[in-house]
Amino acid sequence: MFTKEEKEAVYKVIHKRRDIRSFLPDPIPESAIQNILLAAHHAPSVGFMQPWNFILITSGDVKKKLAWAADKERRALAIHYEGEKETKFLSLKVEGLKEAPLTICVTCDPTRGGSHVLGRNSIPETDALSTACAIQNMWLAACAEGLGMGWVSFYKKNDVRDILIIPPHIDPIALISIGYTEEYPEKPILETVNWEKRRTLDRLIFQNQWGKK
Ligand SMILES: Cc1cc2nc3c(=O)[nH]c(=O)nc-3n(C[C@H](O)[C@H](O)[C@H](O)COP(=O)(O)O)c2cc1C
Repeated sequence: MFTKEEKEAVYKVIHKRRDIRSFLPDPIPESAIQNILLAAHHAPSVGFMQPWNFILITSGDVKKKLAWAADKERRALAIHYEGEKETKFLSLKVEGLKEAPLTICVTCDPTRGGSHVLGRNSIPETDALSTACAIQNMWLAACAEGLGMGWVSFYKKNDVRDILIIPPHIDPIALISIGYTEEYPEKPILETVNWEKRRTLDRLIFQNQWGKK
């Protein structure tokens, strides 16, 4: 079905993809934006409900407001850390909302498809999980396009609803920053700054029952 080169390309993009928080102001080609959105729209979704919408934000004014909401949340979250860990947390760059030429707010509409979406009756949060699948597709597509993408989740949903005039029943799942970058790291930034390291895969795999190696 796929040639060896095609297969290698898929794994290459999976392993090379990084969360990016520093962006150049260079404009993004319209075709790349369309490819990224089309990749999102071809993600799997529970009952094929396709609960997503994409709000494209290029206005500096709106980006500034979103950056304010993210920074307010970052400072609020610092209470969870003390001493050295707090200083380290506050030194982390957790968003590049003002720098990135494009921000996309990806939303989830839990009402799409009516009250009995196939498969969603058992696990209601599968709507948000479907939206996360769309975001991962965007991440891989952005990487393949040579663009950096960052997922920003530091915000109060109602702040983002107020700024983007999103109706109360719509869930703003993510703020996505997209742009070219000079810093496309080999390893996750949180690994480089010794915040967290990749766990050993082998220790996460069980056989036939929880905890059994
Ligand atoms: C659901 C989700 C929310 C995230 N929120 C943020 C965020 O608010 N700020 C940030 O800097 N990174 C955020 N990230 C990126 C993670 O920190 C990053 O994926 C992780 O450190 C691994 O690095 P990598 O994506 O480069 O492999 C988020 C990632 C996910 C999947």
